[in-house]
Amino acid sequence: MTTAEPLALTLTPPPGGEILHASDRATVIWGDCRDPQIIASVPDWYGLLCTDPPYGMRYNSGRSGRFTEIPGDDGTVDWPAVLGQWVGPEGTFNGGLAPSRHVYVFGYRPDELTAPLRLGGTAELVWDKLDLGSGDLTSPWGPGHESFTFGVHVKRRSDREKGAGNLSARLRRGSVLRYQRPGRGYARHSNEKPVPLMADLIESSTVRGELVVDPCAGSGSTGVAAVLEGRRCFLVETKRADAEQCVQRVVAAERLAAQMGAL
Ligand SMILES: C[S@@+](CC[C@H](N)C(=O)[O-])C[C@H]1O[C@@H](n2cnc3c(N)ncnc32)[C@H](O)[C@@H]1O
Repeated sequence: MTTAEPLALTLTPPPGGEILHASDRATVIWGDCRDPQIIASVPDWYGLLCTDPPYGMRYNSGRSGRFTEIPGDDGTVDWPAVLGQWVGPEGTFNGGLAPSRHVYVFGYRPDELTAPLRLGGTAELVWDKLDLGSGDLTSPWGPGHESFTFGVHVKRRSDREKGAGNLSARLRRGSVLRYQRPGRGYARHSNEKPVPLMADLIESSTVRGELVVDPCAGSGSTGVAAVLEGRRCFLVETKRADAEQCVQRVVAAERLAAQMGAL
């Protein structure tokens, strides 16, 4: 008698992705966000790009082994260039992220994103996790924060050169945002962001009903926050289990938002 081995299936999303959930408020696609068909399916003039792509650091959860390595995290993908396709490449003025609207990208500095995302004003922000986060477990200094970039998307180079996109006074706040990291044992994803943090960013940069796009959605925190804030979301995730997690969480958020009258 032979012992049954678990099937080692590599599930690759099909070209164009697969829509796992579509409602008035949320679209969740299991797919590869580098896929031009998926990029072309995003409604034009959306209101906010808010994303947390892999950082190219081959993160894994160390001894616990609870979370495996994140796809696209091996340093071979030029993530700023990929996100550039999502806002609309240089020379295109009709579509993608609407002019003068905002981006938030975790794990990348303003200087890495300014050219590919065509950013005017930028700011480096810090998420203080109020806890020790994941990362190099051998260092005596445990990472208690993550940096991320805010930027204003300005389509025309000439406008950027004239200084368009500088920060408005409305947004002048401290650059450190303090939100408790999702608890150990409860987090659904090795890089899960707290919903209240994402809600703060979304609330600061959009109005009700606008579309928030996250091409590297992970467990769907951006989408949950968007729905609870009365916005709409468009999420893409390449790992099937995480994409299904996005659906579960977004559907639960839609029910809650309906009860709260947020929709
Ligand atoms: C840092 S995590 C995002 C975590 C998320 N912010 C959360 O709160 O759960 C990055 C995600 O990007 C996904 N990813 C990697 N390559 C991708 C690709 N080509 N297309 C779409 N998603 C991708 C990974 O599977 C991973 O879940």
